[in-house]
Amino acid sequence: MPEKMHSTEKAAFTLTDNRSGTSYDLDVLKGSTGPDVIDVRKLYADTGHFTYDPGFTSTGSCESDITFIDGEEGILRYRGYPIDQLAEHSHFLEVCYLLVYGELPNADDMEKFETRITYHTMLHEQINYFFRGFRRDSHPMAIMNGVIGALSAFYHDSTDIADPVHRFIASTRMIAKMPTIAATAYRYSLGMPFTYPRNDLNFSENLLYMMFSNPCEEYKVNKILARAMDRILILHADHEQNASTSTVRISGSSGANPFACIAAGIASLWGPAHGGANEAVLTMLEEIGSVDNIPDYIAKAKDKNDPFRLMGFGHRVYKNFDPRAKVMRQTAHEVLGDLNIKDDPMLDMAMELERIALEDDYFVEKKLYPNVDFYSGIIFKAMGIPTSMFTVLFAVARTVGWVAQWNEMIEDPTQKIGRPRQLYTGSLERNYLDVTKRK
Ligand code: CMC
Repeated sequence: MPEKMHSTEKAAFTLTDNRSGTSYDLDVLKGSTGPDVIDVRKLYADTGHFTYDPGFTSTGSCESDITFIDGEEGILRYRGYPIDQLAEHSHFLEVCYLLVYGELPNADDMEKFETRITYHTMLHEQINYFFRGFRRDSHPMAIMNGVIGALSAFYHDSTDIADPVHRFIASTRMIAKMPTIAATAYRYSLGMPFTYPRNDLNFSENLLYMMFSNPCEEYKVNKILARAMDRILILHADHEQNASTSTVRISGSSGANPFACIAAGIASLWGPAHGGANEAVLTMLEEIGSVDNIPDYIAKAKDKNDPFRLMGFGHRVYKNFDPRAKVMRQTAHEVLGDLNIKDDPMLDMAMELERIALEDDYFVEKKLYPNVDFYSGIIFKAMGIPTSMFTVLFAVARTVGWVAQWNEMIEDPTQKIGRPRQLYTGSLERNYLDVTKRK
């Protein structure tokens, strides 16, 4: 079991109950960087009070060595490495290795890891029959969710979470098979024959091949698109304790098998406030319809009485430019240039929306910058990827983050089942009445 690395400042924080005048000393835990946290684990036992924090805006749920975010400064690092350096110099499978094992691999370890992942990309043949049970017009996220959840029914040799070998095999399978499942979900919706992975292609090339190849033609890898895809995968690979990752951790905290936990993460990712935002950006642009209508939609987004929000803007943690969005913005412009896309009304609208929102007082004051999903939606659109696949590709990338965080949680000696409490505001005790006596 790895030792946890925080240091503790004993009784560094005092909490006073002004009603009784009683004071309680609380320890403060210090990580390697970032804000200190107040240790409230004994608060209920000592004071009889819970803390109240819906949405967890002030709550640290775990200790983690994986990803660091400074939302004020716009910093994101995986295992200490800045995201822009990884996006520029690394490749997705190397980032997977880094997230799972904590260090960048040497050449030999990289080759072994790549081979292992490559040889796990194929699905159990029976899974292809499972796909055929879905309606053709199912959303691919619905298919992904179902198929990933069902993996535990196919791979019985990797569901014992107490066994490190099982955990290792399950983790490898998850990272390796996710692109195959994503591509199969897509091809099923089109009525295209399923494709087997190709071991001579790298992770991103293979993903594009499995999605877009035609059995009647030779497939030619487009290196520009493959590189852009790889970069998008790197940028989405992990993001500390976001909604889907917290879902994976809390599901896993009960001892659930890893396939079930990742399926839970996919369900959470699908929501438009989280990973579903990239699809929602394109749906919104379609609804806006033309550059001339943008001011009306900006006004709607600012109107307190209108639930409309600009999709792809704002972030819970980043109150500065999302560092992923910076890289993504540059990639978006490169991809549009490389593909020689000049006159796409949807992209023109996106660029105009970005320009106006970055200058508008409402967005500036509330620090609502374009986030990663704003640009990933635009790049995916330019790459010819259908809108319904945007969040699926986010899930392909985030799988390694979920896997790394799930493993870290299982190996954490302080890990307990995740079980928050509540502030109850319902009825007090009342007696059951027979139905004939109710009004
Ligand atoms: N458009 C208009 N107003 C907004 C937006 C937006 N996109 N986002 C936040 N606001 C306003 C919000 O109305 C609130 O105003 P007020 O203080 O006057 O009540 C203020 O900004 C703070 O918003 P919040 O909802 O309290 O902030 P949050 O941290 O709970 O929510 C968010 C963060 C990402 C859910 C939210 O900004 C949002 O809904 N954005 C659009 C969806 C989106 O792009 N999501 C992708 C997030 S990045 C990728 C990922 O995590 O998967």
